[in-house]
Amino acid sequence: MNLNSLDLAGNSVISIGIERENEILKTNIAQLQAEIAQLKMDFARIRSPPLVVCDVSKVMGDKAIVRLANGNQLLVNIHDSVRSNVAAGDTVLAEQRTFNVIQRLEGAKTCNPEMFLLSRKPTIKWADIGGLEDEIRELKEAVELPLMRPDIFKTVGIEPPKGVLLYGPPGCGKTLLAKALANATNAAFIEIVGSELVQKYIGDGAKLVKEIFMLAREKAPSIIFIDELDAIAAERIEGSTSAEREVQRTFMQLLAEIEGFSKLENVKIIGATNRFDVIDPALTRPGRLDRLIQIGLPNAAAREGILKIHTAGMSLRKVNIKTLVEKTNGFSGADLRLVCTEAGYCGIRANRAHIMQKDFEQAVEKVKVAEENTDYRNMFG
Ligand SMILES: Nc1ncnc2c1ncn2[C@@H]1O[C@H](COP(=O)(O)OP(=O)(O)OP(=O)(O)O)[C@@H](O)[C@H]1O
Ligand SMILES: [Mg+2]
Repeated sequence: MNLNSLDLAGNSVISIGIERENEILKTNIAQLQAEIAQLKMDFARIRSPPLVVCDVSKVMGDKAIVRLANGNQLLVNIHDSVRSNVAAGDTVLAEQRTFNVIQRLEGAKTCNPEMFLLSRKPTIKWADIGGLEDEIRELKEAVELPLMRPDIFKTVGIEPPKGVLLYGPPGCGKTLLAKALANATNAAFIEIVGSELVQKYIGDGAKLVKEIFMLAREKAPSIIFIDELDAIAAERIEGSTSAEREVQRTFMQLLAEIEGFSKLENVKIIGATNRFDVIDPALTRPGRLDRLIQIGLPNAAAREGILKIHTAGMSLRKVNIKTLVEKTNGFSGADLRLVCTEAGYCGIRANRAHIMQKDFEQAVEKVKVAEENTDYRNMFG
């Protein structure tokens, strides 16, 4: 073999090797570049400032008025890419610095009004309520009857109220009445608690009120029960903090909703409060929650009834309920229930399986002292 030809063959082998290595390196570079790009993207994502969730109040061409969670409203730009599908009522994401709307949030409803619809009826029955016979009748006539028998009102020619406001000192049966009605009625029952609406659904109060009334119409005949109404409807000096303004807006929405439906529509409202003194008179104006039902401290007959209800499951021996009734003047229904529980504890402490008069008497004293130490009685009269 000639030396030259060997040299040539050797060279070509080397150049093939270099080419392959080159290919491999190129692939490696491409892979690493892809990895760098991915890492850069991750890095950018980690470093990117959070976006602000806000609600669109109004769309005006390429601009929108958005409402932030703190209640502030801003006029901002809508990014070209989402301009065509942003509408009033939407929840959107906005850039933190400019608040420009850059994305519409699908299905972003933070609270669903359906969750306030009672799917399982409370277990409280009318028979679990002591006293309050007149109040129960009035509640049924003002709320339930017009929903179930609107024809009676048409025939007689009177208009039922839009709803009622139950008011009176704490622990006297307002919530209990509403629960018993929820149990007894065939109407859909929607229950909201004023303080929850204000604390839990910050920024959504007014929207939620609107949606709850929409739901009530949809499910009619229906009853909306708003417990602890004073948390929304307290009269206040013009809201100065954003939280106060938010509550104010929720209240305004509530008034608008109450005013917005006619007396003949088959939706009724029950409000309850133990702070009638702070309720904004705007709420109880004619045409709004103008039927007031006072749920006061129980009289002797009612106290007897309440004590009987709460002792029904207890094993009593020689207990004179009438004497207890005399000793508990000024007690609320909740106090009376507490007396029964305390009496039960007295029996347990004495290692007895039955409860005696002296247990009740001790319990009455204990509850009385506890009550005197709170300023409830002074506050609510
Ligand atoms: N008339 C009553 N008959 C039987 N139990 C009663 C009565 N009133 C109150 N109670 C007892 O006291 C508890 C508290 O009553 P309820 O929650 O109805 O009070 P309220 O009037 O709504 O008070 P608040 O204003 O504090 O909300 C009831 O769960 C029940 O055990
Ligand atoms: Mg209550």
